[in-house]
Amino acid sequence: MTSSFDARAQTWDDDPRRRYLAAGIFAALEQTVPLRADMAALDYGAGTGLLTLALAARVRRVLAVDSSAGMLAVLANKAQAAGQAHVETLHADFTKAPLPAGPFDLVASAMTLHHVADVDALLRNFHTLLAPGGRIALADLDAEDGSFHGANAAGVYHLGFDRAALERKLLDAGFVDARCADAVRNEKNGRTYTVFLATARKP
Ligand SMILES: C[S@@+](CC[C@H](N)C(=O)[O-])C[C@H]1O[C@@H](n2cnc3c(N)ncnc32)[C@H](O)[C@@H]1O
Repeated sequence: MTSSFDARAQTWDDDPRRRYLAAGIFAALEQTVPLRADMAALDYGAGTGLLTLALAARVRRVLAVDSSAGMLAVLANKAQAAGQAHVETLHADFTKAPLPAGPFDLVASAMTLHHVADVDALLRNFHTLLAPGGRIALADLDAEDGSFHGANAAGVYHLGFDRAALERKLLDAGFVDARCADAVRNEKNGRTYTVFLATARKP
């Protein structure tokens, strides 16, 4: 199965806006979630690893999951070049495929939730994958008018998210301490889009 992301994988990192966004998301994540060297983390919709590799510098293991084999191939090359042997890749879509063996201490995701039709099912699967006390950290766009993706909207199921509604979804999936906070601002086509970081804990 190929995805539109496969075609963009080789040049994905060339856009400085994407690197800035991922760096801002990681900065928000590390301020919110206590990272420890013994943690096992999963990065969902890891893409070329802009968030994965930053996480990998701080934790014991990162499983990078993505439905695009092309994006994961770029990520694997980068991890190898950086000597990050504790980064593994998994070509999967958790709304369709069986889940990998856990548990994980952290499930992170950057700018992927809006590409997932059934967010409730995905959040329940994240809950299943986490150890008790494990954290979730999901970054995505605040509700927008569709201009963020413009004509390139294939595979976009949500025009950003309402923060309160997403917090309710996290509680419904079994998480506690669900909250959203400002993460980073994204300038695109002369407009500013805000990105939040949603965090919660598995009791
Ligand atoms: C906008 S990119 C973000 C990539 C990366 N997290 C970053 O910040 O640069 C979204 C990624 O989610 C992946 N994706 C889209 N739908 C997915 C799904 N249902 N399951 C897993 N990955 C998915 C795409 O292949 C793509 O790599």
